[in-house]
Amino acid sequence: MRAIRLEKQGGPEELQLVELPDPVAGQNEAIVQLHAAGINHREVWIRKGLYARIQLPCVLGSDGAGVVLSVGPGAAASWVGKRVVLIPFEGWGPDPRTQDLKTFLILGMPRQGTMAEQIAIPASMLCEIPEHLSFAEAAALPCAGITAYRAVTTRGEVKAGEHVLVTGIGGGVATLALLFAKALGAQVSVTSSSEEKLAKARSLGAIAAVNYNRKGWEKELVAEAGRPPSVIIDGAVGDTFNSLISLAAPGARIVVYGATKMRPKDLDIQRVFFKQLDIRGSTMGNDAEFRDMLKLIDREKLRPVVDSVLPLSQAREADRLLSESAQMGKVVLDCTR
Ligand SMILES: NC(=O)c1ccc[n+]([C@@H]2O[C@H](COP(=O)([O-])OP(=O)(O)OC[C@H]3O[C@@H](n4cnc5c(N)ncnc54)[C@H](OP(=O)(O)O)[C@@H]3O)[C@@H](O)[C@H]2O)c1
Repeated sequence: MRAIRLEKQGGPEELQLVELPDPVAGQNEAIVQLHAAGINHREVWIRKGLYARIQLPCVLGSDGAGVVLSVGPGAAASWVGKRVVLIPFEGWGPDPRTQDLKTFLILGMPRQGTMAEQIAIPASMLCEIPEHLSFAEAAALPCAGITAYRAVTTRGEVKAGEHVLVTGIGGGVATLALLFAKALGAQVSVTSSSEEKLAKARSLGAIAAVNYNRKGWEKELVAEAGRPPSVIIDGAVGDTFNSLISLAAPGARIVVYGATKMRPKDLDIQRVFFKQLDIRGSTMGNDAEFRDMLKLIDREKLRPVVDSVLPLSQAREADRLLSESAQMGKVVLDCTR
């Protein structure tokens, strides 16, 4: 089979199209013929060496959708022929509040990932794709979807009628957080560096959309939305984080699921306690949350925003789009081309 393998840390040229033996299903495993693989920032962090416990060479990719080709001993034969999306992790552990750090593993390093034509995967990681979704749309969901779902529901505790700010709406997690918060009845506002992405967010139902690079954007956002947000979903942190603390409503929850802009130089901690703010970390989600997310998507007929679908062989271009934040929503590889 063809696969994209990261040979060693370095530039995008280290993503090589290689020919590998077809995988064989082990005990309780299934072989999935992958049709689409979603790309996440995680792959870029691994390529740059900015990730924990890197083991290379490895076929990267946490997000995959396809058709079950065959099953190994112990896996239900009824999976064969089904359209499936893969749960992008294993070993969450027994505590729904937090993953077991000793067992939790994200698909695609060290286990073979989804940037390939086929994958052997435990049958427990298979879920049927909601009928209204294409393979590309399904492959846009796993990592970003579960992250957005847990951030909005379990950690953000978003309720109908609340004002939720989702920052950096161009991001894959962010576009899904917008869809989920809206589906739960919240009013959603957004920020972005791009006027085009702000316009797209409005068309997706954002009540306010402002450019975080403009001076005074915090006041602009609150004025446009008519009130400050009681929930903020942020994956950037960096030096704009104090602006979030400043514009949040008293008693607000700020959920942080990533740090694209790294650590802030300083943290306005006085405002955090004076305004009774909750800053909550969130990462991925557990199996039950993944299945609940698919139910919400099915019930509300939600469609993730897919920025572009590129052939598997153009993985380097997908990497570039993410590295330069050039995308709006998810970048997906077509594993059949
Ligand atoms: N914890 C988890 O489980 C988990 C899972 C997935 C991802 N992540 C992390 O979450 C982050 C986002 O992931 P992703 O896949 O959604 O990334 P992505 O698709 O690459 O998007 C990153 C986005 O960050 C936005 N951004 C950059 N600077 C910003 C700022 N100062 N303020 C607000 N937004 C800013 C940009 O939005 P605009 O283009 O709109 O300006 C950009 O599109 C990454 O750091 C990733 O590693 C964490």
